[in-house]
Amino acid sequence: MLSSEQIQRYRQDGFLALPDFKSTAEIAGLRARAEKMVDDFDPASSKTIFTTHEQVRAVDRYFLDSATCSSCFFEEEAFDAQGQLKQAKALSINKIGHAMHDLDPVFGAFSRGPALAALAAELGLVEPQIWQSMYIFKQPGIGGEVGWHQDATFFDSTPISVTTFWFALEDATLMNGCLWVEVGGQRSPMRERFVRRGDVVTMEKLDLTPWPDSRSAVPLEVKAGTLVVFHGLLPHYSAPNRSAHSRHAYTLHVTDGSTAYAPTNWIQRGADFPVRGFV
Ligand code: FE2
Repeated sequence: MLSSEQIQRYRQDGFLALPDFKSTAEIAGLRARAEKMVDDFDPASSKTIFTTHEQVRAVDRYFLDSATCSSCFFEEEAFDAQGQLKQAKALSINKIGHAMHDLDPVFGAFSRGPALAALAAELGLVEPQIWQSMYIFKQPGIGGEVGWHQDATFFDSTPISVTTFWFALEDATLMNGCLWVEVGGQRSPMRERFVRRGDVVTMEKLDLTPWPDSRSAVPLEVKAGTLVVFHGLLPHYSAPNRSAHSRHAYTLHVTDGSTAYAPTNWIQRGADFPVRGFV
């Protein structure tokens, strides 16, 4: 239950950190499940690397199919020049995505429930629709940077409604690549749109407003169990993890079904796999 002061702060700043939202036991359960998924993953099935650097992504079938699967993606720096993994598989995966919340019972339980449903309602989501889940490892030493972006770029709707639920599964610090946000930046325009036409995806430049820099960005160092919720237009970033400690996080991207979800968003759902809310 948010206080009116918290709701006001969310509207003003574009984000809110809620410590102790998830228990140690819930986190342990999700981590164990993710570990098992990585264990079961055959690296030969894909060497897809996730990066937000390129203007036009070399997106392959594996990435597109992951919209409705639980797929593992490698860190950019996971492989050496000979194409061999530099460290153990379990320490080479960047993330698992993008539909575990609807495919796996442990992820499903973590991603839904009365507390999240109540929070979504308090944040103004009339009809929450969870389009995407990501388990992000931010591996020690090689965890890659995620450049400045707005999540609305990937989940466009009219009007913009996407809200990100970012769960810290480990302490996120400056050392291991915590989130950085621009306070109040949700009032800035959407700079880019990730558009899918058939099997081709492109990044369209919409607005030349510069990304924040060290003067306007603030780091969000949070404890494990904290839920950070933020507005889809809030610019955010995370630095590479050069520390010896991982920085696991889990995210959900949620739009409001009362807004019009863009047909060009890369994740679409058919009647056979309908998008659902927190209940
Ligand atoms: Fe993001």
